[in-house]
Amino acid sequence: MSSEETKVLIIDQDKTILDSCIETLADSSLKIATVMDSAFGLEMIKEYQPDLVVVDLNTYGVPGVEALERIREFDPTIVVIATAWATTVSSTVEAVKRGAFEYLPKPFSTDELCATIAHGVEHRKIIKEAASLRREREMLREQFAAIVSHELKAPLGSVLQNLYVLEQELSDSLSEKQAERLGRMKISIDDLLDLIKSWLNVISDNGDISKIREKFEPVSIPEVITKSIENIEGHAVRKDIEVVPTVEDDVGFVNGDKVHLCEALVNLLGNAVKYSRMGSRVHVKAEKQGESIVIAVMDRGVGIPKEDLPHVFGDFYVGKSAPVEERGSGIGLAITRRIVEAHDGSISVETSLGKGSTFIIRMPAVKVDPEDLKHAENVAANTEQGESK
Ligand SMILES: Nc1ncnc2c1ncn2[C@@H]1O[C@H](COP(=O)(O)OP(=O)(O)OP(=O)(O)O)[C@@H](O)[C@H]1O
Ligand SMILES: [Mg+2]
Repeated sequence: MSSEETKVLIIDQDKTILDSCIETLADSSLKIATVMDSAFGLEMIKEYQPDLVVVDLNTYGVPGVEALERIREFDPTIVVIATAWATTVSSTVEAVKRGAFEYLPKPFSTDELCATIAHGVEHRKIIKEAASLRREREMLREQFAAIVSHELKAPLGSVLQNLYVLEQELSDSLSEKQAERLGRMKISIDDLLDLIKSWLNVISDNGDISKIREKFEPVSIPEVITKSIENIEGHAVRKDIEVVPTVEDDVGFVNGDKVHLCEALVNLLGNAVKYSRMGSRVHVKAEKQGESIVIAVMDRGVGIPKEDLPHVFGDFYVGKSAPVEERGSGIGLAITRRIVEAHDGSISVETSLGKGSTFIIRMPAVKVDPEDLKHAENVAANTEQGESK
């Protein structure tokens, strides 16, 4: 923002003050407009679009505090300087609470007015710069998402597809070793595609994840836990870690999306295994607590340092305790948090450095009519039969 463009609107019923303001600021590069009635002033803001408004809270028209609120409603980035005669501490506090940047008690000297306006103009400059940085970051995010999905995801998908075809075409002539190599290539590309999917999940709008709500249906929590444990079993076995489930028989259902709930739990279990020592145990507990279902994933691993705690659910945060050889991208917990929140749930962590961590998910339970369940199971079984024919 160049200083030539800076527009100031002064709202005051006292013509002497308005004239003195115009005179005082005449030599500055500010563009000044004045008005004696705050109702007019508020109307004028829409067209004039000032950077800064100096408003007397006791002027004609709209009462001062309401005027402050209406300016904020119109554009919260406009810097407002409130003025008034006979200022009390409480009125100053009230004005600042309602959005005034500064309070300038009357009578004020020309120097005081100039200094306060200069301070306000500086503040406005910072606000505008921050907004433009935010816009730039948003654009970068969108560009990155577009690059990742078009330049990486699509060609990798096609490589994977071609590998499958190649494997089929060469199935008779491939040696065992060659087939194994091909298999490893497929797994690596699949992992890479999964990773790209996770990145996209994080960098695209939060709105995207809430789209999963359109497909919500009762999901059995014991089933989610069993599937998730199966998913990380290989990883756990490699570290000689036993994953021990303790699931109440009647823990029940949540209204949700099974695939995403599994993804959330796999992320927690994966971390629990990753941050545990060889040969230890990871516990998964699920129980009903009132109207909620609580799932806890407990490990006896490295724990999370205090300074990492506020950030672990943020995007791309890799903590200090992460072992170098197993460093991830720092998005597992961010995705898990988004998934849990899309299920109207919450996630928290209790941890003790060197002793371990417990991640706790809490989601609203849903009651499921056993008849509905039987019907849904029959439909699923018939669909599977139809598909296998
Ligand atoms: N069970 C745990 N024990 C100790 N630290 C943990 C645990 N779970 C998460 N953390 C800490 O929180 C950070 C963020 O976890 P998150 O799952 O988001 O990322 P990551 O595991 O580093 O990578 P990614 O999951 O993307 O592969 C980790 O880097 C780690 O420092
Ligand atoms: Mg992780």
